[in-house]
Amino acid sequence: MGSGCGQGNGSANGAAVAANLAFTKFLFVIARADDDAHGARLRTAGGNLARGFFNDFDIDDAREMQAQRFETIQFYVREGDAPDPESCPSPCIQKARHMVQVSSKYRPRLQEIDEELRRRIGDSAEILSLEGAFRNPRYSSPEMVNYSTKGSPPRRSGRLSKNAIVVPIRKTPEWWQKSTLERHSYFYPHVDHASATPVKGHAQAAEKGIPSLFRRVYHNPDGYERAGEFDFVTYFECDDEGLPVFDQVLNSLRDPHLNPEWRYVEEGPIWRGRRVLRW
Ligand code: HEM
Repeated sequence: MGSGCGQGNGSANGAAVAANLAFTKFLFVIARADDDAHGARLRTAGGNLARGFFNDFDIDDAREMQAQRFETIQFYVREGDAPDPESCPSPCIQKARHMVQVSSKYRPRLQEIDEELRRRIGDSAEILSLEGAFRNPRYSSPEMVNYSTKGSPPRRSGRLSKNAIVVPIRKTPEWWQKSTLERHSYFYPHVDHASATPVKGHAQAAEKGIPSLFRRVYHNPDGYERAGEFDFVTYFECDDEGLPVFDQVLNSLRDPHLNPEWRYVEEGPIWRGRRVLRW
């Protein structure tokens, strides 16, 4: 967590320090042998991890507010086959059939869960982890918040909003060299410098997803531009009808004629699966 709420706390890279409001961790379980023994270990480990956590599977909007004050857990299972290792960039999280997300205001709690899972699973699986932090939006005016959340769905239970998608993202050094105000413009309709034409920008290019995608952007809790790490982990939930919408939104965001911001984006491996009550 932040080292204090006063001004000028003497941090060497002052401006870069934004407050981490809470933490999250995605743990991907890559089985060495997907046999019964591994399945049994997973179920026992999952049951133990879930103790003391709010299970997000049965969340509804009313509880979402409440759950923000608690430690939460959500289990997932990948649909379909593992990817071809040749075409899977590192870290190949898609190899994981099982995944769990845990969130807490207290970061060491997530480390404990990480260690407990590794201990319980033993050498029957490799575990990859991605960490993130909740932060206040940086580029969003109240109007932008209104635009991008108006008509957006409340968080629904995993029985309705069955699908989850995780996309780790890093941005290029060129992006981080821009001033915050310049970066800000990429999220709004603006005139693209490269083509001198008006473009939609991130939010409008993604507009189609507003009514159907529940979304979160987590920031790297330790800062940006860290070697071998991602700057963000983005997370989405939707029902089955929302899945093609997600793909359309992602394609729009990738189109530099609609969203020049993506010129500075490096996407990591995308993990898709189903939310489940337990493993
Ligand atoms: C429903 C569709 C979406 C809307 C309305 C939307 C809107 C926004 C807005 C307004 C911000 C700025 C937040 C801030 O002020 O800090 C943002 C940030 C971000 N979005 Fe989206 N977005 C959508 C979908 C997506 C998708 C599909 C992805 C990637 C798979 C994505 C990746 C990101 C990332 C990585 C950031 C942080 C960028 C940064 O701080 O440099 N968004 N989004």
